[in-house]
Amino acid sequence: MTTIVPPSHDIHPLDVPGSDPFEIARQAAAQIAEKTGVERHDIALTLGSGWAKAADLIGETVATLPATEIIGFSKPALEGHVGTLRSIALPGGKHALVIGARTHYYEDHGVRRVVHSVRTAAATGAKTMILTNGAGGIRETWKPGQPVLISDHINLTADSPLEGATFIDLTDLYSARLRGVAQAVEPSLDEGVYVQFRGPHYETPAEVQMAKSIGGHIVGMSTTLEAIAAREAGMEVLGFSLVTNLAAGIQKTPLSHEEVIEAGRTAEPVISSLLARVVTEISQGG
Ligand code: HPA
Repeated sequence: MTTIVPPSHDIHPLDVPGSDPFEIARQAAAQIAEKTGVERHDIALTLGSGWAKAADLIGETVATLPATEIIGFSKPALEGHVGTLRSIALPGGKHALVIGARTHYYEDHGVRRVVHSVRTAAATGAKTMILTNGAGGIRETWKPGQPVLISDHINLTADSPLEGATFIDLTDLYSARLRGVAQAVEPSLDEGVYVQFRGPHYETPAEVQMAKSIGGHIVGMSTTLEAIAAREAGMEVLGFSLVTNLAAGIQKTPLSHEEVIEAGRTAEPVISSLLARVVTEISQGG
């Protein structure tokens, strides 16, 4: 007689029916405190394409953990994304949690997993959430390698991290105060409205023209759902995009993932140092 063995799929904790994503974020924060020895983090940063080196510049690394050791985190799907959580002691005595493990919406694991890192950061005590990404620029005056501040967003995923009738104000989602701090550090920083598409395909030129005509300046595949979850958790949000390429149809050559990664590599030293200076300013009361 043959026995049919059911495939063993570990159910992800956030997918268990009836599970509470905030409770799982609290458990994740407790694990981070235990494994890093750091009770509380003050600032959290998610480092997307091109931004990873900032972690080396903002302070002394206390501990680096593979994100998959922490409840609720998934393996990163993408080359160029380091699947780690890093606790860093900042010069003024505060601590930063650096999230190098983003789950993208296009991975199709559900919004809870996309925003789990942000909810965990909030549960560690962080009051400031800095979200960074690599994105396509719509303004023709922008150049690949240029960082821009996110002033607002248009979320074209038609999804939300909020569950049930949770109504959250998103006026000033990308804090004008923190943008002011960043622009004081680097007066040449331009800003723009980030439009999130689902991806993982890049946009068509017609979609880029639509994004432009509805008020967008930057197109990408991340960030908006995380920003909403951060606001729900009461955090102040700062967003940066690295323009890795001009958006489809704005640049005349086809887009490629290699080009995006390469632009990130080239720009990394400059934008990481900029981000480190902004973190120092924020953590010292800016
Ligand atoms: N579109 C969407 N996402 C991106 C792009 C783009 O042009 N460049 C880098 N990430």
